[in-house]
Amino acid sequence: MKKMMKKISTLLFVILPTFAFAAGGGAHLDSAPVDLSDKESLKSGAKLFMDYCLSCHSAKFMRYKRMADDLGMEDSEVLENLVYTGAKIHDTMEIAMPESDAAAWFGTTPPDLSVTSRSRGADWLYTYLRGFYVDVSRPMGVNNIVFQDVGMPHVLADLQGKQYLQEEKLVVDGSGSMTPDEYDKAVGDLVNFLVYVGEPIRAYRESLGWYVLIFLLILLVVSYRLKKEYWKDIH
Ligand code: HEC
Repeated sequence: MKKMMKKISTLLFVILPTFAFAAGGGAHLDSAPVDLSDKESLKSGAKLFMDYCLSCHSAKFMRYKRMADDLGMEDSEVLENLVYTGAKIHDTMEIAMPESDAAAWFGTTPPDLSVTSRSRGADWLYTYLRGFYVDVSRPMGVNNIVFQDVGMPHVLADLQGKQYLQEEKLVVDGSGSMTPDEYDKAVGDLVNFLVYVGEPIRAYRESLGWYVLIFLLILLVVSYRLKKEYWKDIH
């Protein structure tokens, strides 16, 4: 018995660290406020994406036209307010800068963000975009709490201000144009938009799911009544 206990504890000792690692390498992820039915949030996220991200990152699986239709925007509204690259309404969201230039400037090509919300997850993105902090030892002057030695600059610093890591806590210096709450809301909208881009059909699928459930419920009532009707004379 003693021997077996020893074996089990040794096994746990070997296995447990693997679980801890699988749970995300220790960094805590904040929960992203994703709501694909909130069109205003998606629109504000789209604007932030075009203003602050599309200069480096493409979203090649997404067409402007599709976004216009899904978010209930006129084509002209999209072209006037959201397109800076000279793209046409049926084009996909490509960056203006050639990828080879980007690689030369940043040492690595900024990846396409079409499906990042699925590969990394919304909570990771939400934590990442709020997790840049000053680190003068890095080439871009910043590091990130969920992306060690990140090669991306803190492109939203004019909104958030500078952030410092003090005793494992993030502290903003107040130099940004937004309050911490406003910044969280803005990043929430941006992540919401990236989740939409990762799976444009999802909002439709979810609403369809409700209709299917309601239909099944009605069917259940009808079938039950029919059954009662059929068996009435037999009992
Ligand atoms: C000035 C160019 C530039 C801009 C603008 C920029 N990024 Fe980046 N981004 C990069 C680079 C370079 C990397 C690769 C970092 C690395 O691998 O170390 C990156 C990496 C990322 C990653 C990690 C992808 C992954 O899965 O590894 C995400 C997510 C991301 N960026 C989102 C954004 C968002 C959202 C915006 C707009 C708010 C944005 N980026 C604006 C250059 C940029």
